Amino acid sequence: MAVLICGGAGYIGSHNVKAFLARGEEVIVLDNLWTGHRAAVPEGVKFFEGDVRDGSLLDRIMGEHSIEAVIHFCACSLVGESMEKPLLYFNNNVGGMQSLLEAMQRGGVDKIVFSSSAAVYGEPKRVPILEDDETNPTNPYGESKRMMERMMHWVSRKHGIRYVSLRYFNVAGAFRDGSIGEDHRCETHLVPLILQVPLGKRDHVTVYGNDYPTKDGTCIRDYVYIEDLAEAHLLALKYLRDGGESQIFNLGSGDGYSVMEMVNAAREATERDIPIEMGTRRAGDPARLVADSTRARTVLGWSPKVTSMKDIIASAWRWHSAHPNGYGD
Ligand code: NAD
Ligand code: UFG
Repeated sequence: MAVLICGGAGYIGSHNVKAFLARGEEVIVLDNLWTGHRAAVPEGVKFFEGDVRDGSLLDRIMGEHSIEAVIHFCACSLVGESMEKPLLYFNNNVGGMQSLLEAMQRGGVDKIVFSSSAAVYGEPKRVPILEDDETNPTNPYGESKRMMERMMHWVSRKHGIRYVSLRYFNVAGAFRDGSIGEDHRCETHLVPLILQVPLGKRDHVTVYGNDYPTKDGTCIRDYVYIEDLAEAHLLALKYLRDGGESQIFNLGSGDGYSVMEMVNAAREATERDIPIEMGTRRAGDPARLVADSTRARTVLGWSPKVTSMKDIIASAWRWHSAHPNGYGD
């Protein structure tokens, strides 16, 4: 039986495709290539270019192939854009989940692993954050992720579709051999933006504020290595295969690093000078986001292996320096 990976041509999805193939899983990818890249999916993997909101396409895929489970990465996921275009986010993210759950019900597919986000928490009341802490999203992107979780919750009760929702914190790095990596044409993430400086694509990185109540005044985040994140998806599927109940898991390393610490780690990893410019705060940035991932560790047996920021950034650097124009499409 195959695993249907929706959004498998994107940054996180493509690393999961590799990880699933390496474990001998049969994989089918569906992606509309809005932000993903055909070249990120290995030759030989069955690939459908299409939209997860297209129910008849999902019916065809599920009718022609024996699909055991769905891993769902498709989303619009830019926080700032979601403030400008909230309806796009509800249409694509919530609408995509609606379409997928309907097709799963029709096709008798009863397991789904879903990409949620730390954005569901909003400004946390305490750190590290636990899964049962209050969710109070501060933007339509986070709201859409929370709605998608709630849809799975109600559908699982009625239709017996079990789910694992993985709330990622800050995902970073690239596949260890540098063959695939992050290539977002509208890049907002800190690590690839820092690396654009040694790549010669920008002359400095702007640090969004140094007046936060943190050790050096810059924001603290919990960075999780992309291959460790992929491993969590394999464990989540195993958990569902073993009969596990629907559950939500935070995925972070549990350690927080400031923006300045990340810049310094990048200077070490690349052995280049990376000039910074101190800017003002970016609207909506919480001062500190750090995960308590005890549940993922104890229930799934997940244990992130690459936790040095220098090593995570070095993996991203291998990808970017070998592919300065990303996938080039
Ligand atoms: P990405 O944009 O690289 O990947 C998303 C993929 O989904 C792309 O290939 C895109 O073309 C595809 N897609 C979007 N809408 C689609 C649709 N309607 N039909 C078919 N395909 C569609 O993003 P990413 O960074 O790989 O993130 C993957 C998931 O993880 C997203 O759901 C995102 O919200 C979530 N997430 C990411 C991070 C992070 O740090 N990158 C953090 C938390 C959560
Ligand atoms: N930052 C800078 N300069 C930049 C880019 C980012 O200083 O040029 C800072 C940000 O202010 C933030 C940190 O670096 O403090 C990380 O920023 P990212 O944009 O890389 O990531 P976010 O923490 O904003 O976003 C992450 C996930 C989102 C999720 C969000 C929840 O990538 O999916 O956490 O708040 F929605």
